[in-house]
Amino acid sequence: MTVRTTPAVARSRADLAGLQVGGPVVFVPTMGALHEGHARLLQMARERAGTEGTVVLSIFVNPLQFGPDEDLDRYPRTFEGDLEIAATEGVDVVFAPTVVEMYPDGVPHEGVVSEAVTVQPGPLADVLEGASRPGHFRGVLTVVAKLFGLVRPDVAIFGEKDYQQLALIRRMASDLCLGIEVVGVATDRETDGLARSSRNRYLDDEQRQQAATLSRALRAAQDRAAHGVPAARWAAMKVLRAEPGIELDYLALTTTGLGELPDYPEPGSEGRVLVAARVGTTRLIDNLPLSF
Ligand code: PAF
Repeated sequence: MTVRTTPAVARSRADLAGLQVGGPVVFVPTMGALHEGHARLLQMARERAGTEGTVVLSIFVNPLQFGPDEDLDRYPRTFEGDLEIAATEGVDVVFAPTVVEMYPDGVPHEGVVSEAVTVQPGPLADVLEGASRPGHFRGVLTVVAKLFGLVRPDVAIFGEKDYQQLALIRRMASDLCLGIEVVGVATDRETDGLARSSRNRYLDDEQRQQAATLSRALRAAQDRAAHGVPAARWAAMKVLRAEPGIELDYLALTTTGLGELPDYPEPGSEGRVLVAARVGTTRLIDNLPLSF
């Protein structure tokens, strides 16, 4: 039987500060439009918090991490459904602030005059997603740092689907000595392998079929990894090229830390294969581990 509790909803910093929370505090930051992948993160959070601890879910569509031509306005907002999922997964607190609450002096977009301090993510933010979405990780790390400051978690949980984001948040927590354990959770997938994502709801039926090609390509790279990087890359590209509905942004084979790989890595060593592509107007990302 599913046990449902009603989470407390905090809309402002003051609401959040007024709540009694027992430790450990386990935090799952999201932009809402929750799906089964998020439910997995919340289940993990509930396990880590135990019966005495507090699970905090944040829902905030962060304008600072969207570029001027991106989908900020059409990003799905499904607050009532999100609350139901939060209740089912035993969340204690939902923090759903307004933009003004998070950015009282205005959103400090690149090129906008602002005295606000933001987080400079370093060179790891300039490659892959960062190369395609300039300023994106400055926006992500700034909002995550602010949320960490407001929620004050012991543990924070993120999905591995946004692998570069997870790596950068880990790096921020370590480099800025935040004292927060950052936990990554393996990507939850549909039965045909498509990584669950809030943006999947933009896809029509045909695009939905085409989108499954991305995880097939990643699996092809995984299967050939023991033969070296060129063979793995070739196998993935063969799958991607066979689907004309996919407009590839990048396919990258990297070290687990997103560094460059030699063509023939040490046998037994690990890496990562990452892909970003547009299907129709929807930009999707995915990644999988590699074993050489
Ligand atoms: O992964 C997301 O949903 C967002 O990038 C995050 C981490 C909640 C920051 O806005």
